[in-house]
Amino acid sequence: MAHVLVTGGGGFIGSNLAEALLKRGDAVRVLDNFSTGRKENLAFPELGETLTSRLEILQGDMADREICRKAVQDIDYVLHQAAIPSVPRSVAQPIESNDANINGTLNLLVEARDAGVKRMVFASSSSVYGNTPTLPKVETITPNPLSPYAVQKLTAEHYFRIFYELYGLETVCLRYFNVFGPRQDPTSEYSAVIPKFIKALLTNTRPTIFGDGEQSRDFTHVDNVVYGNLLALEAPKAAGKAMNLACGGRLTLNELLAILKKIIGSDIEPIYADPRPGDVRHSHADISLSEELLEYEMQVSTEEGLARTVDYFKEVFAR
Ligand code: UD1
Repeated sequence: MAHVLVTGGGGFIGSNLAEALLKRGDAVRVLDNFSTGRKENLAFPELGETLTSRLEILQGDMADREICRKAVQDIDYVLHQAAIPSVPRSVAQPIESNDANINGTLNLLVEARDAGVKRMVFASSSSVYGNTPTLPKVETITPNPLSPYAVQKLTAEHYFRIFYELYGLETVCLRYFNVFGPRQDPTSEYSAVIPKFIKALLTNTRPTIFGDGEQSRDFTHVDNVVYGNLLALEAPKAAGKAMNLACGGRLTLNELLAILKKIIGSDIEPIYADPRPGDVRHSHADISLSEELLEYEMQVSTEEGLARTVDYFKEVFAR
């Protein structure tokens, strides 16, 4: 049984990771300040008492070194998901997002190094590529961040790499591409597009498309991200590396909406609004590096993931 710290474990991706780790019998500590995460995300009744008794919740902020020190005590592996997400939020609040996404990350790295953590895996982002012309995006491209959020993720990646090179703390950076699935929040102005579209269609409200809808994304169901993280905990060739984690395809927003309308049986038309500042035009991953270093392969296709996610939200909205 491994002892794993999941930072941001109350959030969408973090809670899916915590659940998968508990399911395989690990002891999980969650560190979260519950600013965007939710305690309800950490109730896993279907796992049963024995497995869930191995979950410990530590409420606190990574700005606090003492909390970080406590969080990494007796921990083998860290999955670092805690962040203030959202590109537009970082454009509106560059200092707050920098404090959380860089300073908090550095606090945790220092404490993990000093506590002798075996490996730390970081939730990086496809946003680091910006509008580099090459498609699909491959890790050899020079990144070109377009938003504070992307700058922060890239800066943190550099910290992870040098902590491996300077101090021997094993680190792996996974560049997530537009992750979606159960427990993603559909209610904030900064929510991601898929839960927002699903909520709009299920409540018969017109969804908003920013721009012409021809921008594209490699929409990745969260089960793929969970799978990649579990591999990254131990994959021997991955230490010190940054790699894409995605499906390796892409859909335009117009295509995405058409698929969701078909699944839901809606004929509602979108409203087209101005494009968002800092928005990337096309995002599509080359996943050969994670296939090679992690032996990763896609577990759930985008279309299958969308159908499952609609089912999930139907249930949520029926409650
Ligand atoms: C970006 C990153 C992603 C990261 C995420 C964190 C890229 C390519 N992706 O996602 O890796 O995890 O930030 O927050 O940089 N949109 C609409 N209508 C809406 C909402 C969004 O048209 O109601 C559009 C956006 O303008 C954008 C696309 O949908 O073109 C996706 O937006 P969103 O879901 O917010 O994610 P990204 O900003 O692409």
